Amino acid sequence: MDVKELVETLHFACTAEFWRMAIFWTLSLIFSYLQLFAQSLFTQKPIPPRKTATPTTTGTRIPVCIITGATSGLGAAAAYALSREGFYVVLAGRSSHMLLKAMDDIRAQNKDALLKAFEVDLLSFQSIVKFKGSLQQWLLDSNLHSSVQLLINNAGILATSCRLTAEGYDQMMGTNYIGAFCLTQILLPLMENSPVPARIVNVTSFTHRSG
Ligand SMILES: NC(=O)c1ccc[n+]([C@@H]2O[C@H](COP(=O)([O-])OP(=O)(O)OC[C@H]3O[C@@H](n4cnc5c(N)ncnc54)[C@H](OP(=O)(O)O)[C@@H]3O)[C@@H](O)[C@H]2O)c1
Repeated sequence: MDVKELVETLHFACTAEFWRMAIFWTLSLIFSYLQLFAQSLFTQKPIPPRKTATPTTTGTRIPVCIITGATSGLGAAAAYALSREGFYVVLAGRSSHMLLKAMDDIRAQNKDALLKAFEVDLLSFQSIVKFKGSLQQWLLDSNLHSSVQLLINNAGILATSCRLTAEGYDQMMGTNYIGAFCLTQILLPLMENSPVPARIVNVTSFTHRSG
């Protein structure tokens, strides 16, 4: 960190936004931990998986969910939880190796999990378009209804400096906002085609308050 960055950091630490964010974070963390603690006191045993259908059952409507950034953190946890809820979970990430590992981890805890992985880089519009094509083909090949019930825009990065993507955007804006926006737009027809109301969940952060 050079002197200019140090001065900027110190200046930011003296702003009202920083302190507001710090207080919000701390309070919400304490609240979340208290909630988890209270839940652990009253929850006796884990909820058993709710499995209703198999992919080979012709015409069966297995709900399909797509989770971006499903190879680690919140995305991986959501993928596991939704697999237990009977969703066909589509894991989207940049690395095939990480995707395979994430699927193995889920199957180690839920051997009946219905999982599919696709490589997609949210920084590349081309990659997003390719993902949509592969997804549609897979739905067709698997005899699944041509629709998506849940999209979780979870992938995100916290960049410490500005780096440009091949398409000329700031990487953090590209991943956290533009990529998620393009993916959502391109998947909207599949979501609108859902026989039950479909849902989009955008995972975000208090940090935007300091923007
Ligand atoms: N953890 C927190 O305390 C916290 C706090 C506030 C907000 N959030 C938000 O919550 C979300 C998840 O956070 P996390 O901590 O669980 O994240 P994480 O463990 O760092 O995982 C981020 C995921 O995003 C994926 N990703 C990154 N760039 C990508 C790209 N260009 N294209 C496709 N996927 C990409 C990564 O997949 P690959 O690298 O395998 O491609 C990875 O699986 C993020 O949106 C984050 O901003 C988290």
